[in-house]
Amino acid sequence: MKLSKITLAVLGASLAAGLGVTAYAASGQSGGAEQPYQGLTALGYPAPQEGQLVHVPPTMADLEEADIHPELKKVIRRGYELFTDTQQLRGKNVFNDMNCSSCHLGEGRQPFSAPIWPAAITLPGFRGKNQHVNNLEERIAGCFAYSMNGTPPEYGSDDMLALSAYHQWLATGAPMYPDQPIYGRGFPAPPEPELEPDYARGEEVYQAQCTICHQDDGAGHYEDGEYVFPALWGDGSNNWGAGIVRTHTAAGFIKNNMPLGQPNSLSDQQAWDVAYYMVSQERPQDPRYTGDVDETLELFGPTFHRNSRYGEVREHDDHRLADHANTGEKDFLKPWNVGMPRFEELSE
Ligand code: HEC
Ligand code: HEC
Repeated sequence: MKLSKITLAVLGASLAAGLGVTAYAASGQSGGAEQPYQGLTALGYPAPQEGQLVHVPPTMADLEEADIHPELKKVIRRGYELFTDTQQLRGKNVFNDMNCSSCHLGEGRQPFSAPIWPAAITLPGFRGKNQHVNNLEERIAGCFAYSMNGTPPEYGSDDMLALSAYHQWLATGAPMYPDQPIYGRGFPAPPEPELEPDYARGEEVYQAQCTICHQDDGAGHYEDGEYVFPALWGDGSNNWGAGIVRTHTAAGFIKNNMPLGQPNSLSDQQAWDVAYYMVSQERPQDPRYTGDVDETLELFGPTFHRNSRYGEVREHDDHRLADHANTGEKDFLKPWNVGMPRFEELSE
């Protein structure tokens, strides 16, 4: 069976229909009359709980109807285009095969697929990964540096403004700094499996359920030079500093979103096993690399790599993961935003 863009479009459409995401709930608080996301439970997702913030972001169709300045509409449209076709920045800001929407499905709106609008209502905020207060631009810049193996557009540039406008517009009507937990945020990990995640079992799941789209070697699939399925590892994928290399995040992404069109079809055990298999493969170096894996681990283990396999020895072939200086397609290690000092002069 050969999967084409058309198959993909059909899968996407049936998924969107299942989500029941049609209404533009300006401020869909839990318990509201319109019961947003009711289609999700049929797809194995939990229903919204009492006390959670439930927000249904507007769609691009809503944008055309929205009563906002046409100049702002243009900028939001540009942000949407950059988010779903980030490859247009390839060689400039992006040095792998990804679009933002490769991981943030449903154009960044889909619950349990790390919808992006929560960043717009929770930032500025302290971020454990870089140990200082980040704003929305810096959060977006983080996904460029790690997930796109690239270097972000400058703060305040047209592309950065367009991307942040798209994030903020998706949050239309949601409260700033909410005190409730946000329904469907992030890639929540499935419960700890009964058995320790296992490489060989993960490989079996991968062969049976994933290779048709992502290929044996994890490199994904191109047709007529155009990206169809993204790379899960190797030079075309995210680098070792990306959030999705943490086993629990990978398991959460996969359980909730893969195989495409069949969310929640893997058992929790299968999701952990195949995630473990995926995060045991090589990819471009973490831009925070100091030139030495042990030293890098010492610095970034506590805030990040304690949840990844960075520097671990792979059981079946004794390969030490991430012990290399390969930066993938880019010819630099550290993009301008990584390690940038912030607020050093402030006292308590
Ligand atoms: C390789 C997968 C991947 C790609 C590609 C990717 N991201 Fe992310 N993104 C993540 C992960 C993982 C998280 C963290 C989710 C979590 O906290 O569980 C995240 C989180 C975010 C958040 C914060 C969401 C929140 O709840 O606060 C924003 C905003 C974001 N990404 C924007 C982007 C943008 C913009 C791009 C493209 C430039 C992008 N991402 C590309 C994986 C990815
Ligand atoms: C029917 C095709 C298909 C199948 C089968 C499939 N995927 Fe995907 N996968 C996709 C597509 C397409 C995307 C990107 C989403 C987009 O661009 O809309 C994706 C994205 C991903 C990503 C995030 C982006 C990246 O490159 O890292 C991961 C991780 C992933 N898939 C893992 C898996 C795993 C593990 C399996 C098997 C359990 C699997 N996929 C099965 C089509 C598929």
